[in-house]
Amino acid sequence: MPAFVQGKTILLIVGGGIAAFKALELVRELGRAGARVLPVLTENGARFVTPLSLSALAGEKVRTSLWDLEDEAAMGHIQLSRAADLVVVCPATASLLARAAAGMADDMATTLLLATDKPVLMVPAMNVRMWLHAATQRNIATLRSDGITVVQPDDGAMACGEFGPGRLPELPKIMAAIAAQFGSKPLLGRHALVTAGPTHEPIDPVRFIGNHSSGKQGFAIAAALAHLGARVTLVAGPVHLPTPAGVTRVDVMTARDMAAACEAALPADIAVMVAAVADWRAETAPQKLKKDSSAPAPLVLTENPDILAGIGHHAQRPALVVGFAAETHDLIPHAAAKRNRKGADWIVANDVTDGVFGSDSNHVHLLTATGAEDWGAQAKQAVATSLAQRIAAHFAGHP
Ligand code: C5P
Repeated sequence: MPAFVQGKTILLIVGGGIAAFKALELVRELGRAGARVLPVLTENGARFVTPLSLSALAGEKVRTSLWDLEDEAAMGHIQLSRAADLVVVCPATASLLARAAAGMADDMATTLLLATDKPVLMVPAMNVRMWLHAATQRNIATLRSDGITVVQPDDGAMACGEFGPGRLPELPKIMAAIAAQFGSKPLLGRHALVTAGPTHEPIDPVRFIGNHSSGKQGFAIAAALAHLGARVTLVAGPVHLPTPAGVTRVDVMTARDMAAACEAALPADIAVMVAAVADWRAETAPQKLKKDSSAPAPLVLTENPDILAGIGHHAQRPALVVGFAAETHDLIPHAAAKRNRKGADWIVANDVTDGVFGSDSNHVHLLTATGAEDWGAQAKQAVATSLAQRIAAHFAGHP
């Protein structure tokens, strides 16, 4: 892993939180791995670690103020923002995340973040309530949709005495996230088609048949594939999620729209069909159905096309077709039958008894031609990263 960092320059912004002292260990680790670290300390960061310690470990001058004439004369802040291969913010405090998400430039750190044209990795650390606050989560979603990588903090006991997510991740996890920024792009040149979210089948102009799919898992997979270099077409049902960076999104409403959008996206090397497609559609009334009529009109249902089966048996079948199977019982046998019936190479099976829809975590099993693997309960993002890496490994074995 350190090989990725060898010879790289990293602009490290240290924010003002109790975890700032761990940034010193990060500087040392990066130095050992052969990276040059240009340290920037916020005014509040300087309350937790001294510029002297940071400078001594980095072997570089520490920048803290936008208004230091000597520093600006040596290297202006715009130049500094682009001098590195990667910008790392560690620890990223709630305030730093908020100001960066809002595009503010009111100190050296936020000005550099706004001016840089380099990838940015944020490593947050804060109190659990501050982390879980809707405002922080909204800021993180904004930053991610702006293309910034925000590392998931660790769970555990905090300096403030509370317990939960918000702890600065351990050093190896931070180093792995940095290495991933310099990692190769094994899916470069591959086109991936991903479906996500529910479909809505109209009953009349104001009502529809739908389901609880949030689209989170499919969007995370689209993002993870794009991160590994794939060109991604994401066909999304009606969901309220930001489009992941580098992904081409096609919004659809019904199963038939989704099938047409998938057809139009071919050829593709990879298809990952995560959408919870409605199995049936209703005959749509041209006007709103009124409850004052003598008896409720029965819904006349017609089966929708099976998009996964269509792709799995298509003349332009992608080299790797992955389906999802949400089951409430007999998970593996049902998923295995689905794999055969739909012509999928792999099925990601999940037990939805405990409410996976809308949640941020997922317990999946991967079914391939050689058997089933239990991946345990993980964050949907972690499932996405693992699946994307597995897909990359598959293509590395079958170029
Ligand atoms: O049969 P079931 O709906 O459980 O199959 C789930 C898998 O099939 C998912 O990958 C889903 O995206 C896909 N599917 C589809 N079109 C349908 C129904 C399901 O692509 N009409």
